[in-house]
Amino acid sequence: MIAEKKAEIARLKQEKNAVILAHYYVDGEVQEIADYVGDSYYLAEVATKVPEEVILFCGVSFMGESAKLLNPEKKVVMADAYADCPMAHMVDIDRIHEVRKEYTDVAVVCYVNSTAEIKAESDVCVTSSNALKIVRRLPNKDIFFIPDNNLGRYIAGQLPEKHFIFNDGFCHVHTSIHPDDVEKAKKLYPDAKVLAHPECTEDVLELADYIGSTSQIIDYATNHEDKVYIICTEMGVFYELMQKNPDKKFYSVGHRQFCPNMKRIQLDGVINALATLEPEMHLPKEISEKANQPLKRMLELAK
Ligand code: 13P
Ligand code: SF4
Repeated sequence: MIAEKKAEIARLKQEKNAVILAHYYVDGEVQEIADYVGDSYYLAEVATKVPEEVILFCGVSFMGESAKLLNPEKKVVMADAYADCPMAHMVDIDRIHEVRKEYTDVAVVCYVNSTAEIKAESDVCVTSSNALKIVRRLPNKDIFFIPDNNLGRYIAGQLPEKHFIFNDGFCHVHTSIHPDDVEKAKKLYPDAKVLAHPECTEDVLELADYIGSTSQIIDYATNHEDKVYIICTEMGVFYELMQKNPDKKFYSVGHRQFCPNMKRIQLDGVINALATLEPEMHLPKEISEKANQPLKRMLELAK
């Protein structure tokens, strides 16, 4: 059954001149049919380089929006119409205006997990893999970091020369990883290294041996000799971790490391989206023209 679905996807991809991009949080069988799998930064960058006319996105909507903002002339199709990241909406645009009034030289730094409307109000985008590098390079002292409070605080801790204003957005998946559960896992696997995503809360990050984006976590485990790891991010990364490291052991810290929105993406949805080229990502012109600027600035500053 799965083999037939995969064959149908390969056929449709060719027929429609489509390329499939997928995030590491989607199910392994979806990662298998993708042409490119990666973290948010890699996927945004790859989207600017692929020659195909259609980009089929296996991820949440802000990822497809970024691909569309960077390639307005291309058709960007989502594998699932309702896969959305709740954190992407967790900023009040009025609050951005208020902060801009209060701090006249503020840089509004927008985590890529945000809607196009929010990006349109921002100065620069960042992802978890490049936020530190980009914020450090900004000339502004005042930084309003939106929407994720945890990533903002993690970056602020490494840049004491800047003044940060925080927002109260969060990821429900990463904040459900509790330090007590990490401690329990460490007792069970005393030789394990703890790898965590910076969307985790500070008390979890304090227990981590390494903090990075999904790709950086996978690279760390792949490039280090240690054989046992406790993984503090969404379960989807286990697929690539195990593909690349069949001789190593990976443990989660509980049952909540599961992003229900990413898991909406299934092979049937991919087939349907390729066959119909729907749901297509559309963005109002006035939003796209503003929202692609901070994304382009991110690609420049991350080089
Ligand atoms: P990455 O950029 O690390 O892939 O993270 C995306 C994300 O949604 C984390 O929850
Ligand atoms: Fe959004 Fe969290 Fe899911 Fe990432 S894991 S897409 S931040 S809800």
